[in-house]
Amino acid sequence: MLAVQDLWVRLKPSLGGHPIVRGVGLQLQPGERIAIVGESGSGKSTVALALLGLLPRDVMQQSGSLTLDGEDLSDAGEDDWHTIRGRKVAMVFQDPAGALNPVLTIGEQLVEVYRAHDDRPRAEQRQLAVQQLAAMGFADPDRIIGLYPHQMSGGMKQRAVIAMATALHPGLIVADEPTTALDPSIRAQILALLVQKSEADRSSLVLVTHDLAETVRVAHRIAVFYHGRMVEVGPAERILARSRHPYTRALLNARPQPGQRAGELPVIPGRPPLPSEQFPGCAFAPRCSRAGESCHKTLPELTEIEPNHAYACHFPL
Ligand SMILES: Nc1ncnc2c1ncn2[C@@H]1O[C@H](COP(=O)(O)OP(=O)(O)O)[C@@H](O)[C@H]1O
Ligand code: SF4
Ligand SMILES: [Mg+2]
Repeated sequence: MLAVQDLWVRLKPSLGGHPIVRGVGLQLQPGERIAIVGESGSGKSTVALALLGLLPRDVMQQSGSLTLDGEDLSDAGEDDWHTIRGRKVAMVFQDPAGALNPVLTIGEQLVEVYRAHDDRPRAEQRQLAVQQLAAMGFADPDRIIGLYPHQMSGGMKQRAVIAMATALHPGLIVADEPTTALDPSIRAQILALLVQKSEADRSSLVLVTHDLAETVRVAHRIAVFYHGRMVEVGPAERILARSRHPYTRALLNARPQPGQRAGELPVIPGRPPLPSEQFPGCAFAPRCSRAGESCHKTLPELTEIEPNHAYACHFPL
């Protein structure tokens, strides 16, 4: 189980010290899948990196607590994270090419994952690698194992990355926009693969996406981020059908509708705020058609108002 409490991430004082993530809390049961959505710059990737102990320590400072399977990782150092990553948490990023070593075959890279964590004979590790590639939907894993990344399409590379990330059955998979760089025709397959791995291993999944359509296929819950805060979180179908936060509704309305031409897309008026901007009240107030006086003065706290459904708004829909 993953539990994050009051996570703050700030730039170092010498870089301005402003917060990028502001008091985020998150709990995930084994096998539970959550999607994090929000406009660019809202802090989604920063949260994802924090879950993997990958925040750049020379640039950012974090506070709050992070526990995974009962182990407190709040103060884990780089050496601790080195053994945690792969074994307990897996990462899948937007660019599969960047996650693979161009001079090693997929088989060599996959065997390396097993070799780093157990001392089985190499032939057995190779057999595991073949099985793992088969489980990723590769019909000919014996051929795939000998390919270099440049011999594979983007979708194949992302499947190979997921094979490596999940080889040791981690309890948490963090995927940050895993389909954004891929051809639209294969995005659904990659998402289906992540769901399948999460179900097979009962691992929790955090999917960061800016595509709300993706969330429906994958997530049990949706969390909406704005200006580094979680402003609404609830069951996926509830958020999609009956969101209560005006920002969530604006995001949903900004989705391209079937048959709509480019240029007709509704956009949320105004621009997302920068982390360096300060708001005494609700950070969405300058763009919100429902904003009243209290919105500009008092920060709305994220509160569970309906069962499992929390939102931070003075005048919810
Ligand atoms: N290494 C960094 N140095 C300075 N600012 C950063 C760094 N990484 C992210 N930020 C800032 O933090 C904010 C949130 O970034 P990010 O978490 O990547 O947002 P998202 O993934 O939602 O688009 C952005 O405004 C970005 O400029
Ligand atoms: S708190 Fe006020 S400004 Fe913020 S989303 Fe709700 S109504 Fe809009
Ligand atoms: Mg991002």
